[in-house]
Amino acid sequence: MKFFLDTGNVEEIKRVKRLGLVDGVTTNPSLIAKEKRPFKEIIQEICKEISGPVSAEVVGVRAADMVREAHELARWADNVVIKLPMTEDGLEATYKLSQEGIKTNVTLIFTVAQGLMAAKAGATYISPFVGRLDDTGIEGLKLIRDLRTVLDHYNFPAEIITASVRNILHVQDAALAGAHIATIPGSLFPSLWKHPLTDIGIEKFLKDWTQVPGGLSLDG
Ligand code: E4P
Repeated sequence: MKFFLDTGNVEEIKRVKRLGLVDGVTTNPSLIAKEKRPFKEIIQEICKEISGPVSAEVVGVRAADMVREAHELARWADNVVIKLPMTEDGLEATYKLSQEGIKTNVTLIFTVAQGLMAAKAGATYISPFVGRLDDTGIEGLKLIRDLRTVLDHYNFPAEIITASVRNILHVQDAALAGAHIATIPGSLFPSLWKHPLTDIGIEKFLKDWTQVPGGLSLDG
């Protein structure tokens, strides 16, 4: 399973990249706005840090505007992926860009039908939002399981990016459901490797080790 970082913060990317855990990055207009820096500068810095796909989202509403923006974003770096909203215009733009060989990520997917439409229009990635679905009382992870089944039925090449990830269960269950990717906020990453029993275990081992005469000699 691939892990993307869901952030516009370059320092956060550098921190997690050090652990070999970042295969790509997703951004959205809200994440970019938090950084208070120009969009182009942020995306180009991220693309220098990460050689994998980096999603940059269009803000146009009409298909022609989305395509125009996409052409500009695609010039910023070779690994930019164009993120488009799941609307009729978004589908039209996705189809056009896929015909041109430009990679796309269709975002804000909340139903199997939407995911199917995006895959059919030629999306490289589809992004179902599990956390925001959970917020409405609908199990977000079920959408991941169902989408994986549908993509496999018809051999669509689109990859599922599990998005709006809020907790460890979202990541674990997305992996069990066969999601190709989970995009994870930087703040959530430590909870994926930390466990209180691990910490208690280390503490006990280190305490017991003080009873070993001579400890560990690294001098041979
Ligand atoms: C995905 O690409 C989005 O950027 C993101 O996962 C949205 O997450 P949120 O629902 O926590 O804002």
